[in-house]
Amino acid sequence: MNELTPRFWEIFLELYESLPRQGPGNRTCAEEALGLCRELPSTPAVLDLGCGVGGQTLHLARITSGTIVAVDNHAPFIERLGRTIAELGLSDRIRPLVADMANPGMPPESFELIWSEGALYQICIESALLICHGLLRPGGYLAFTDAVWRKDNPPPEIKTSFDFDYPAMGTVADVLTAIDKTGLSLEGHFSLPNEAWWDDYYTPMERRMGEMRAKYASDADALGVLDQLAQEPEMHRRYSDYYAYEFFVARRTTGGGGP
Ligand SMILES: C[S@@+](CC[C@H](N)C(=O)[O-])C[C@H]1O[C@@H](n2cnc3c(N)ncnc32)[C@H](O)[C@@H]1O
Repeated sequence: MNELTPRFWEIFLELYESLPRQGPGNRTCAEEALGLCRELPSTPAVLDLGCGVGGQTLHLARITSGTIVAVDNHAPFIERLGRTIAELGLSDRIRPLVADMANPGMPPESFELIWSEGALYQICIESALLICHGLLRPGGYLAFTDAVWRKDNPPPEIKTSFDFDYPAMGTVADVLTAIDKTGLSLEGHFSLPNEAWWDDYYTPMERRMGEMRAKYASDADALGVLDQLAQEPEMHRRYSDYYAYEFFVARRTTGGGGP
């Protein structure tokens, strides 16, 4: 792929930093996943890995009474979340942190709930599950979303797109196997419905891309990048039968250092 020029990243980040969230998901799905954490303590210690600008972090603060450490390695996302937290008076509930989830530098068994929407795959799902296992207290829950194939033989256009962003993407069965191998026990899983892709993600993305097209009307390079970025929601319109985002909820049932 030849689009990953500095200009591509500049436009990409201008777009993504302005969105309410950086991946598919919505409040209803978060509440359904939280409902699968049936024995969560009333004020859980929560870790949100790959939180982006914190769309789901802020919702978690509303639907739990816990404290949340919100981690992302892209500092501008964390800076924006920090400003939002201050505006909402949530500084005693949410601690935004720039860190690498592959090496979060936190003591083992620190959390009763680890949440991660659309992010664990960035450090390889199997490694991420092991890291989460170690950070969870026995009895703690891991709730995460991951992109999965729903059908064999996807059209080349989709295959190329995912091969670039997530070459190791598997099926629901593959993720369930990985959860099992990590020693976590599955509490449930479900696919995100179509509206969870559109309401808070692709619809604001397409609206913002329209504003950026006006802003960059005489900038052919910027318009070219926006054309490339517009392919993702368009691909979803045409081919969403082939892939899904799946919410998985698993639990650490054992003590000790791993499976
Ligand atoms: C698809 S976005 C999802 C963001 C957010 N959870 C949401 O659903 O709106 C993935 C996020 O993971 C973050 N990320 C990627 N690799 C990371 C790493 N190694 N450590 C921490 N965050 C990472 C990215 O910066 C990005 O914000």
